[in-house]
Amino acid sequence: MATDVHRSVTDVHGSVTDTAAGKDPGSAPSGAAVQVAGLVRAFGDRAVIDDLQLTVQPGEFVALLGRSGCGKSTLLRVLAGLDREIEGEVLVPRRKAVAFQAPRLMPWKRVWRNVLLGLPGRPEREAAVTALDEVGLGHRADAWPKTLSGGEAQRASLARALVREPDLLLLDEPFGALDALTRIKAQRLVAELWRERGCAVLLVTHDVEEALLLADRALVMEGGRIAYETTVDLPRPRDIADPRFGALRARLLDRLGVEGSTDDGAGGTDPAEAEAEATEDRSAAAA
Ligand SMILES: Nc1ncnc2c1ncn2[C@@H]1O[C@H](COP(=O)(O)OP(=O)(O)O)[C@@H](O)[C@H]1O
Ligand SMILES: [Mg+2]
Repeated sequence: MATDVHRSVTDVHGSVTDTAAGKDPGSAPSGAAVQVAGLVRAFGDRAVIDDLQLTVQPGEFVALLGRSGCGKSTLLRVLAGLDREIEGEVLVPRRKAVAFQAPRLMPWKRVWRNVLLGLPGRPEREAAVTALDEVGLGHRADAWPKTLSGGEAQRASLARALVREPDLLLLDEPFGALDALTRIKAQRLVAELWRERGCAVLLVTHDVEEALLLADRALVMEGGRIAYETTVDLPRPRDIADPRFGALRARLLDRLGVEGSTDDGAGGTDPAEAEAEATEDRSAAAA
């Protein structure tokens, strides 16, 4: 059925392999970390991803928003190489790692063994501990997964991604199940790891504020494509009280179809109003 044209990038720094038939691998002029063109993923006769284009630059932090069921996880699975029933072109770095909303730790393996799970060769415990240290969990290396808190389990899952030294880190609503405080800590950790590692990140989230706190660019997926995108050109650390933050938030909420988030969707929003609405939106989500 579908043609599998998923290809790995050979260069660790994210240059793109030319996949055109009969050509030798080489660097694409763009040097992108992710390059997706004309991607289609159908389940039965329903195309969940429909002619999607996407480019992510090396080291870029991109947030992917969209209504539930619009195909975000499907896209992430394709980029992770977990789903190859596709049409179109998908170029990703060879070194990539994914962390899901549920940490997916094997209960019968100690934390450090979970971190190394699936790595080729015979990786040393030391590698796991180093990654666990990076997420502040070195002291729990010998623990059993069931003894971890939600936040700790999520950090272990992050360590499992980091130990792969990814050039592309794919995160599928990794903070979705965490309580508010743990979530803020986890967001800060990801921001820090991204700064230190310099890898490209694609973060799927349903939280507009999270997207704007972390990302260089926010995308909205709709109708199987990237229907809207905005650069988040604000200095870090980001301040949610910044009127520009409020304006971006209002525009994104509007694109996501959150009623009354903006008048015209083109930046003419009163920041205070936007703030009030976003707060309302958050409490509604929490209710
Ligand atoms: N393996 C599958 N078989 C059939 N339908 C699927 C499968 N995976 C996802 N879908 C459907 O594709 C759509 C997009 O799913 P998903 O990518 O998980 O959405 P999102 O992550 O944006 O909430 C949904 O309607 C879902 O039911
Ligand atoms: Mg999903």
